[in-house]
Amino acid sequence: MMKNPIGVFDSGIGGLTVLREITRLLPGENTIYLGDTARVPYGSKSKETIERYSFEVASFLMRHDIKFLVAACNTASALAVPKLTLKLGIPVLGVIEPGAKAAVSATRNKRIGVIGTEGTIRSGAYASAIKMIDPSVETFVRACPLFVPLVEEGWNEDDVTMLVAERYLNGLKAAEVDTLVLGCTHYPLLKDIISKVMGASVRLIDSAEATAVEVKRILSEKALLNSGANTSHSFFVTDSPERFLAVGRRFYGEGLERAELANIEGL
Ligand code: DGL
Repeated sequence: MMKNPIGVFDSGIGGLTVLREITRLLPGENTIYLGDTARVPYGSKSKETIERYSFEVASFLMRHDIKFLVAACNTASALAVPKLTLKLGIPVLGVIEPGAKAAVSATRNKRIGVIGTEGTIRSGAYASAIKMIDPSVETFVRACPLFVPLVEEGWNEDDVTMLVAERYLNGLKAAEVDTLVLGCTHYPLLKDIISKVMGASVRLIDSAEATAVEVKRILSEKALLNSGANTSHSFFVTDSPERFLAVGRRFYGEGLERAELANIEGL
């Protein structure tokens, strides 16, 4: 069981930021990643649709005998993780609780900002996770839907992105948050611009890093940690792999050489 892979899924490419942190922190683990590139984006879709999509991609990963499932997609974490946890019979972790925990420990003035897709923000998942940990913290939220296509276009440092960021983030700046949760897989790639807009004193919480730490904690608690030397990392997508490989390298870096088409029909 220890040698079985950790399954990681996302609506597409962005979840590679979470996988990258997991493989950095846990180099002895085998992993299998599925990006639902045929149906991305998840961020603008309803809860029912996200639950159905997430269950289908999770079922594909379950066929590969995963020991642990990570929902790298914030939208899927916000909307579908409770149902997946009930249905799957293996440990399931989303990115919301780890991000919320890290934000609560970082804030000094108890004012936390959260940015994410429309679905994530509408769900209120980060705000309720933060309230559960510390009811005295105030949360301020903002959906930033244009950030995802800007990052996929590679405009991480562009003036256009700076303008968009100012427009989205000015309200959170005015609310004097001292901590900001990057509640979407793509936003860690915009850390520089976001930090310029918010000011250097605002702590940016990368849910990907916080999630990797939590994966390690849970695996070790369940005696499921692996320390293999010849680890394997496989990548699957639901649409043709070319774009995933080309854009994905910006998210994952070295080691993303090959991706296979996953057939999730009928799952
Ligand atoms: N992976 C999604 C998230 O973190 C962003 C892209 C999408 O909307 O599917 O919410």
